[in-house]
Amino acid sequence: MAKIFSGIQPTGQLHLGNYLGAIKNWVELQDTYDCIYCIVDYHAMTIPYQPDQMQKNILEAAADLIAAGIDPQKSILFIQSHVPEHTELAWMLNTVTPLSELKRMTQFKDKSKQFPENVNMGLFDYPVLQAADILLYSTDKVPVGEDQIQHLELTRLIARKFNQKFGETFVEPEVLLTKTPRVMSLKDPSKKMSKSLGPAHYIALTDKPEIIQDKIKKAVTDTGENSAEVSPGVQNLFTLLEIFGRAEVYKKFTAEHQAGKIKYAELKEELGQAISDYFADFREQKQKLLANPEGLRDLLAQGTKKAREIAVKNIKDIKNKVGL
Ligand code: AMP
Ligand code: TRP
Repeated sequence: MAKIFSGIQPTGQLHLGNYLGAIKNWVELQDTYDCIYCIVDYHAMTIPYQPDQMQKNILEAAADLIAAGIDPQKSILFIQSHVPEHTELAWMLNTVTPLSELKRMTQFKDKSKQFPENVNMGLFDYPVLQAADILLYSTDKVPVGEDQIQHLELTRLIARKFNQKFGETFVEPEVLLTKTPRVMSLKDPSKKMSKSLGPAHYIALTDKPEIIQDKIKKAVTDTGENSAEVSPGVQNLFTLLEIFGRAEVYKKFTAEHQAGKIKYAELKEELGQAISDYFADFREQKQKLLANPEGLRDLLAQGTKKAREIAVKNIKDIKNKVGL
């Protein structure tokens, strides 16, 4: 079976962008592929964070993923820092990574702007650690959102460079995108939905129904008069309605929009309800999981054991290739 690997940082709750751009795909891929999913805590250290919150965030990420449908019996779910081979490989990959390529990375530039007091070496080297995560497991496909394409291209380049220098070792992994690889912010639909913009811009999967309704109500639309064009804000709401709403409801509103007769308040009411209903089970599952942190830690320990078996075997081969 082809191999899937992906990772997510433990930085608090998941939002609709994470879910539709990546996690929903992770869940669906479990039946057709060998899947490995990783909570990347070393990556989360590259931006300012509180050490005493890290363990809580890791458990929350695990609960999020399992509540969303990742099955630790089917897939390997584990914590990056518990498998030291990731950082070992990152060092070796550093030696074949051109500095000029790292300097081009837009995520590094964005985060440097966002945290000008903390432009650290880890942030710069972040994509190489990401490449190590992926290449360590002979990954064929990597399900991520659109913002990660550049990192995946670099991963392929690093694999190629390494193979050229040390002999055929790594598979060049491909990106797997969903139908919604870039979900937009509710308040500023010219930007991607992200936590760093503030709570009004995103819907967290754990948001309560009244919060969801309120955030959707305040989402940017347009005047509804120019039916020839769909504004970015309205397009974003339509995209969400198509996924979460019933087909006939989606059809009704798009037809009304074309006819220039749409009432956005009605659309928003329907959409808010549909999102709340869709995640009702998720909210309940997540609470149950978090009520049993020992159980979660146990599941992660089992995942670590399985991941490590593969990592230890592969790193041996890689070290052999480089003469260590
Ligand atoms: P992050 O929370 O930024 O570490 O992202 C975790 C995963 O969600 C990655 O695969 C991202 O590409 C994806 N993602 C984050 N924000 C969005 C968004 N607004 N639309 C689609 N995918 C996203
Ligand atoms: N950089 C990814 C993000 O911000 C997280 C990540 C780390 C990752 N390692 C990975 C994603 C390996 C896919 C594969 O979302």
